[in-house]
Amino acid sequence: MDIKQSIRRNFARRAESYDRYAGVQRLMARGLLDRVQEELALSRRILEVGCGTGYLTASLRRGHPRGRIVALDLDAALIEQARRRLGPDARVSWLVADGEFFSRGDFDLIISNAAFQWFTNPGGALQAYAQALSPQGCLAFSTLGPRTFGELDASLHQAAACLNLTAPPAIAAREFLNYRHWEDLLALAGFSQVRLTRQIITADFPNVPEFLRALKAMGATNPRPRPFSPRLLNALIQAYEARFRTNGSVPATYEVIWAIARK
Ligand SMILES: C[S@@+](CC[C@H](N)C(=O)[O-])C[C@H]1O[C@@H](n2cnc3c(N)ncnc32)[C@H](O)[C@@H]1O
Repeated sequence: MDIKQSIRRNFARRAESYDRYAGVQRLMARGLLDRVQEELALSRRILEVGCGTGYLTASLRRGHPRGRIVALDLDAALIEQARRRLGPDARVSWLVADGEFFSRGDFDLIISNAAFQWFTNPGGALQAYAQALSPQGCLAFSTLGPRTFGELDASLHQAAACLNLTAPPAIAAREFLNYRHWEDLLALAGFSQVRLTRQIITADFPNVPEFLRALKAMGATNPRPRPFSPRLLNALIQAYEARFRTNGSVPATYEVIWAIARK
């Protein structure tokens, strides 16, 4: 299956459970809104990329009741859920589209929460957004960096070594772009005023199976899954618990990156 279809399906299958588990994504959205208050108040035309179930879309509408919002996502089921969340509203248009290749329009603000880490050609996308922004326009996004789920990665390596596997299955987060890489891509795309911030957020789970269930429920599993035997899964759980359990819970690190950029 093509990678985009796989990303789309991962999220679409979890449309119902996403909101129950997406606590960190909500923190990311609030951090994004805090950083973009002024721009939001001044924007008349807003594009939201990867709106999912519409959490940020609803906040954007509250933050700027007179602006027009185009909210898009790869998947029709998520768009439907977002549409239900907001109810009928002529100021919001919904679109099923690949936001990475969206260069139409003339927007004052292009915004996205927790979606860019799934892009396959992020440099191309930033260039397209630079084209689609008005001269004073602003691009604002949050994304996840490669240190995300470091505990999972380390435990997987340890488990694979215990079972003498030559190549442990890679976790998707290892390929997420780091802070510097985003900085370079933004500069290449023609953004000259860039503010990037990074924060490590730790979420606690009662145990490793709960954490793995949450990943699945959020749709945040690897779009290129490799066979994962029950033996490897067991060894992974044991390694994770032994190495990282503290005070009755196991941590999962999220490396959050926020970017606010102007041309
Ligand atoms: C972690 S969810 C975040 C959803 C929402 N922004 C939020 O804050 O709750 C990531 C979303 O990005 C969407 N997505 C991923 N790649 C995309 C792309 N190329 N174009 C549009 N949407 C995309 C997924 O379908 C999913 O809804």
